Amino acid sequence: MQLGSVQETLLIPLYGRAVDARRKDSVLGDTRAAELVASLDYDFTRFDDLPSLTGAVLRTALFDHWVSGFLTAHPAGTLVELGAGLNTRYERLDNGTAHWFDLDLPDVTALRRTFVPDTPRRTAIAASVTEAAWPDIVTARSAGPYFLAAEAVLPFLDEAGARHAIGLLSDRFPGALLALDTAGPAFIAGQDHHDALSKVDARMRWACAGPDQLAQWFPGIDVLASHTLSTPPTKMYEELPVAHRQLLDGLAAQQLPQVEEYRLNLVRLP
Ligand SMILES: C[S@@+](CC[C@H](N)C(=O)[O-])C[C@H]1O[C@@H](n2cnc3c(N)ncnc32)[C@H](O)[C@@H]1O
Repeated sequence: MQLGSVQETLLIPLYGRAVDARRKDSVLGDTRAAELVASLDYDFTRFDDLPSLTGAVLRTALFDHWVSGFLTAHPAGTLVELGAGLNTRYERLDNGTAHWFDLDLPDVTALRRTFVPDTPRRTAIAASVTEAAWPDIVTARSAGPYFLAAEAVLPFLDEAGARHAIGLLSDRFPGALLALDTAGPAFIAGQDHHDALSKVDARMRWACAGPDQLAQWFPGIDVLASHTLSTPPTKMYEELPVAHRQLLDGLAAQQLPQVEEYRLNLVRLP
């Protein structure tokens, strides 16, 4: 398997979901992720026992929570996964009527296509999120409403790239929901000591103190929710296994910069 350095990072959350699937008290129950890990030629043991695997699972659980809410309100709506990696949200949440687009860089999309064929409701797109042309593929096939899920992708751009991408999304998907993570300056500065990122070459580059930055860039962006991993929405927290709730309680008490500065945000584009 040949992937570029930022592309390789997709293997971390994939492995997190696979490890979670083996637990009796699995959060996501993502058996498809476990199958994908088993079929990839990659030494995943470098990520064994890293606390960030649980963090990635909890991040995905929050994005799933938001996407589920969107699908309940809009059963025939459209989900656009930006930097999809080998994300398996479709396998976890598809309702039989929504449309899904999975966008990633060309090498990742080629890999994804070996596992996931396009169908009338599911389309892979090979492009950078910063390119101007790909939204045409989505809007030509689906009128929306749109939910754009950028899970662990935009912080890997530099600030100008992230700003450009969010401007493009705002122009092409007005009124859409956008879920994205943001990493603050201390998180960005500490990546060489981060348990998972220190194991790969890629680094996050966009230091963002929080979602209010987006509203400053693009007036009219409405911040609907913003959470740290240790303080998820109450409903999601209450549905987590006991071991995860205890972990989150401990993390919230410690106020670690790498936890407190990493935010999961839901915004409505202007
Ligand atoms: C940490 S992985 C997250 C993958 C997936 N969202 C998940 O949660 O499993 C980051 C992903 O962003 C993708 N990515 C990085 N830069 C990108 C860009 N400019 N355009 C599209 N995708 C990008 C990488 O190829 C990789 O698949």
